[in-house]
Amino acid sequence: MTTIAVLGAGYVGLTAAACFSHLGHDVIVSDINQIRIKNLQDGLCPIVEKELPELLETGLRNGKLQFVSDNSVAVSQADFTFLCLPTPQSSNGDVDTSFVQAAAKEISPFLKPGSVIVTKSTVPVGSTKIIEEMLGRSDIAVVSNPEFLREGTAVHDFLNPDRVVVGSSSETAARSVAELYSKLNCRILITDPASAETIKYAANAFLATKISYINAIAAVCECVNADILSVIEGIGSDKRIGPEFLNPGPGWGGSCFPKDTIALVKIAETAGYDFSLLRGVIAVNAEQLQRVTEKILSRKPVGAHDFKVGVLGLTFKAGTDDLRDSASITIIRNLQERGALVSAFDPTVKAMDSINDLVDVRFAAASIDALTDCDVMVILTEWPEFALLEPSEVLKVMRSRSVVDARNILDRDKWVEAGFDYQGIGRS
Ligand code: UGA
Repeated sequence: MTTIAVLGAGYVGLTAAACFSHLGHDVIVSDINQIRIKNLQDGLCPIVEKELPELLETGLRNGKLQFVSDNSVAVSQADFTFLCLPTPQSSNGDVDTSFVQAAAKEISPFLKPGSVIVTKSTVPVGSTKIIEEMLGRSDIAVVSNPEFLREGTAVHDFLNPDRVVVGSSSETAARSVAELYSKLNCRILITDPASAETIKYAANAFLATKISYINAIAAVCECVNADILSVIEGIGSDKRIGPEFLNPGPGWGGSCFPKDTIALVKIAETAGYDFSLLRGVIAVNAEQLQRVTEKILSRKPVGAHDFKVGVLGLTFKAGTDDLRDSASITIIRNLQERGALVSAFDPTVKAMDSINDLVDVRFAAASIDALTDCDVMVILTEWPEFALLEPSEVLKVMRSRSVVDARNILDRDKWVEAGFDYQGIGRS
């Protein structure tokens, strides 16, 4: 019977723990946040993540999943210890690995002899080696096993991976980690640790590049009267390009892309390479936030004394309650700085949750309430329910007929027929 310890009950740790228990392993999760652990013991899932509550409940019920708030207890019987701890960005753009390093130091004396440490957190290239040194135990191997989970579909992504990457200087340890995924029947790539760590950054940076690229092409479309939807179809059907991650939007955000792109520029710089391409990708994203802000502000009726904006969607994408580095937050702040009055609705965000991020926003209990008396309706997150709004209903509550659809999810013709001035991203 394999026993896995997971340190960190965030979205990566919880998803990994729930899925490993689903695959038949015995899993024990530890987190310093005692309230979170208590809630998990009581079956309460702390994040909005599809399928996760069900897996957690099953794991608790069949005894395959346990929660503790003591790392030493979690690791003492474990054959594998997964580090799923936060690696935030420090003020100079470097990755702050202090949580990972502190945990490695703390657990070192308690690790079961011959067990394996696995880093799942996104850590700078070279970290696997550093952790090995910090542990100071020749019987413990360290393996890098980056995650490629998207928030909102994390469970599905874990159980249906395009690939599993395992990097280690110990072939035996790498194979033993690969074995944990054997039921998934997927491609397993075994590499050296630095390559595994680089794959993680390179994947996120490439995806961010794709989105910045399509946002830039959308800007071109607006200048030359082309329609981005046709352009996406045209280029996305080329197998070498592919249709995924080609949706223009208000700018990419979340807990990963902004942090990881900056980190990769830094990692490259420290190692002697100026990653100008990626610096450009980051700059295009900052421009996109500004472009969308200007697009909204341009909807202010001529001569109006005030400008009321109804924002639909606060999270950085649909399917999550995560507001970290959300384009919505930056755009709302930009609008407020320019004098706009903002009301907002998001299906997963309550006013109290966001009090630190947003000041002076009127939080509504439903889309239609957020739009009441507004000059412009703005869609910033692609929640499917926003696409179901009826123009005739919206018409009744708004004071002007303007729509900025920053996710291109509305049926443009329907809104135009209803008399709305419709602006998408890259739509002619
Ligand atoms: C991303 C990666 O997709 C995962 O593979 C990776 O494991 C994860 O980061 C991580 O490093 O932990 P996630 O941050 O959950 O996952 O979100 P994505 O679905 O990648 O979206 C990122 C941002 O890009 C969002 O703001 C989203 O709205 C935006 N986006 C995405 C677009 O604007 N257009 C698209 O076509 C796709």
